[in-house]
Amino acid sequence: MNFHVMTLFPEMIENGLGESIIGRAAKAGYISYRAVNMRDYTVEKHGKVDDYPYGGGAGMLIQPQPVYDCYQDITKDMKTKPRTIYLTPQGKRFDQKMAKEFAKEEELVFLCGHYEGIDERVLEEIVTDYVSIGDYVLTGGELPVMVMIDAIARLVPGVLNNETSAETESFHNDLLEYPQYTRPPVWREKEVPQVLLSGNHQNIVKWRLEQSVKRTEVRRPDLYAKYQKKQSIVKRLSKKKRLYIHMMELLSRGLGEVLYERGMDIVLFEPESELYMVCAESLESAKYLVDKYLNSAGLVLTTSEVVVQALEEKKGMHICHKVWQYVYTLKEPLPVKHKDIRRLTMEHFAYVTEHYDMDDEEYVRNRIEKGQMFGAFVEDRLVGFVGVHAEGSCGLLYVDESCRGMGIGQSLENYIINYVKSLGFTPYGQVKEGNVASIKLQEKNGLYMAEEPLYWVGYE
Ligand code: ADE
Repeated sequence: MNFHVMTLFPEMIENGLGESIIGRAAKAGYISYRAVNMRDYTVEKHGKVDDYPYGGGAGMLIQPQPVYDCYQDITKDMKTKPRTIYLTPQGKRFDQKMAKEFAKEEELVFLCGHYEGIDERVLEEIVTDYVSIGDYVLTGGELPVMVMIDAIARLVPGVLNNETSAETESFHNDLLEYPQYTRPPVWREKEVPQVLLSGNHQNIVKWRLEQSVKRTEVRRPDLYAKYQKKQSIVKRLSKKKRLYIHMMELLSRGLGEVLYERGMDIVLFEPESELYMVCAESLESAKYLVDKYLNSAGLVLTTSEVVVQALEEKKGMHICHKVWQYVYTLKEPLPVKHKDIRRLTMEHFAYVTEHYDMDDEEYVRNRIEKGQMFGAFVEDRLVGFVGVHAEGSCGLLYVDESCRGMGIGQSLENYIINYVKSLGFTPYGQVKEGNVASIKLQEKNGLYMAEEPLYWVGYE
């Protein structure tokens, strides 16, 4: 990913970003950034770039010519018009969601204002996004640009290591971080909470969640209100946990957002795979939801036959897969007989794309880069894999033909269930008709099937 910053103070950007993780990521080639001095493009003698505002008023404005010529030079080799962000207190407020959206771009251009602003005509010509980093006025756009680049760059694969990005993925959305402690165990008579020294991972996960909730309630009532709304939906869905586990987990893992909720008419959206999860109580409400929220939907996962019917009638979509959901309900981890299972890296990308029967390399790349794929190795050779899908279900299972019947598949399945459990989540997965019996056999191990099926609806 390449960041281009148009500024009158390029050293500020170069010095600010050159240090620490972002500087290291640039040296390693995961990202690049460059600060371009707009003053170098002025046609005025003495390097002047500003002038008085027409109509009067305080201060000076940056003229359009140096800005535009600088922009033309930066973008001359780009195939498409890049997103160009003007930093201004009048912009849309920057947040994590926006950072995630910008992190998908290959090129980003930033324009830093100074003085009283920039001539409106050039902004109209080049700017695609007006962004503010908060409700206060700074002297220029350089500090906001550095804030944005830092927040966006850390989401680019490779900038943080795999482990850390997997942690980020599992961060409980809408909640603040729990308190953390390191050595010594007693400092100025203050003790580290006992549970953290107990070695009991489940209790630690539970304690941390409680602390996050408490802290959010006190420090960020706005986030807490959002969290409570999600919890109220989760509670409604929990009446049929096995059927609705995908929606419950999407919300509690912070992987998606609520587009609509009223009773059991609910629409959720998972941005990574652009997946809509829907349930509706009647055909009438299903039609309403399809009209209002599913207009641009290409893929819908639903528990309701009325939603399938509405999607067929209104959008010409049809059922691609009918699946049954299973949930792992026990506290104990499952036994994993095959010992050599490791988190996969991009080194294994070719093997996974070659053997996984979904024709979507970008998706496989995303899962590996997010640290959500694991492989079984025999004598250092990768012979199978398993993973967590973007919407949260366990899946992506494959075992090499040469190694089937050795219990490796079972080990991978159990491993991924234990992994999801260790993050404090409820493991679940989906199986097609032919596999229902095999899961049913596993009820004694804590895997329970939903009584009703789910439908994947699309255009394929
Ligand atoms: N320029 C000056 N103040 C700013 C702010 N709060 N956010 C973005 N750009 C700015």
